[in-house]
Amino acid sequence: DWKMDSFVKDTIESLRAKIGDGKVLCALSGGVDSSVAAVLLSKAIGKQLTCVFVDHGLLRKNEGDEVEAVFGPDGPYDLNFIRVNAQDRFYSKLAGVTEPEAKRKIIGEEFIRVFEEEAKKIGAVDFLVQGTIYPDVIESGLDKSAVIKSHHNVGGLPDYVDFKEIVEPLRLLFKDEVRKAGLELGIPEYLVFRQPFPGPGLGIRIIGEVTAEKVKIVQDADAIYREEIAKAGLDRSFGQYFAALTNMRSVGCMGDFRTYDYAVALRAVNTTDFMTADCSEIPFEVLQKVMNRIINEVKGVNRVMYDLTSKPPGTIEFE
Ligand code: XMP
Repeated sequence: DWKMDSFVKDTIESLRAKIGDGKVLCALSGGVDSSVAAVLLSKAIGKQLTCVFVDHGLLRKNEGDEVEAVFGPDGPYDLNFIRVNAQDRFYSKLAGVTEPEAKRKIIGEEFIRVFEEEAKKIGAVDFLVQGTIYPDVIESGLDKSAVIKSHHNVGGLPDYVDFKEIVEPLRLLFKDEVRKAGLELGIPEYLVFRQPFPGPGLGIRIIGEVTAEKVKIVQDADAIYREEIAKAGLDRSFGQYFAALTNMRSVGCMGDFRTYDYAVALRAVNTTDFMTADCSEIPFEVLQKVMNRIINEVKGVNRVMYDLTSKPPGTIEFE
């Protein structure tokens, strides 16, 4: 793609010119936007860039290690990578908290605190990277659910970190162009075509209190769901799909035993803008396979449901 090719070249050049020998800090989430932004900067200025990746313990199964494999010291890119394993901090802050907005607030604030601590260790930086893309620029404030739920994004960071200027290398790109740029830059496809994942992570896919045990359940169920969707060749067919953990426990039987375990909810939606969405049609045999595997492989789950709700009146996430 010659257009993307020249976007990448021009952007790297202009980043070099703008940054000079300055120090740059990037909050890396592993999502496509922050990943592409980080790689552009790595190509432009190498080790002048430090990426901080906060593992809040609410990521999908193996996600922290996957991000580290790409951006860490053993990966292909030239940058300073700091992974902060802050799981325990987040879990202890979230203990006993059930109210959705309170959970979001705690996760968002703790994220900033962790990031701020790392930034302090690094010292004054000249530039802070934001993975802002064009739709963020034009649509901010228009998504009703953004008002209903307080959206937590790395976009909220600037007040908390000592820096001189923001760099937003993706500011003029739409999502599909960000993906093209990512491919052009040689970022692995599983990162480039990753589905959107909310800042508060699994914290808003676990209804009620978040515990390490529940995180493990939803991670395992979600991994099975994604694996089977991929096996069925459907992994690029939906806007977003994931497993959530309801707060409902019910009676079941497993062999000769009575169980009293959690219900997992599967969700898949078709959407163009994430402001409205419809439930996706998944072949029944795929759903059954997922159900069977989750019940058999994930301890603590004895019921699996498929969420049929549209947005509105539902939201895509559960909290
Ligand atoms: P809802 O649940 O509001 O989700 O229908 C719409 C889209 O936004 C994502 N989402 C978030 N993304 N921080 C994010 O970065 C958040 O706090 C957040 N809440 C929801 C959600 O995954 C879906 O793609």
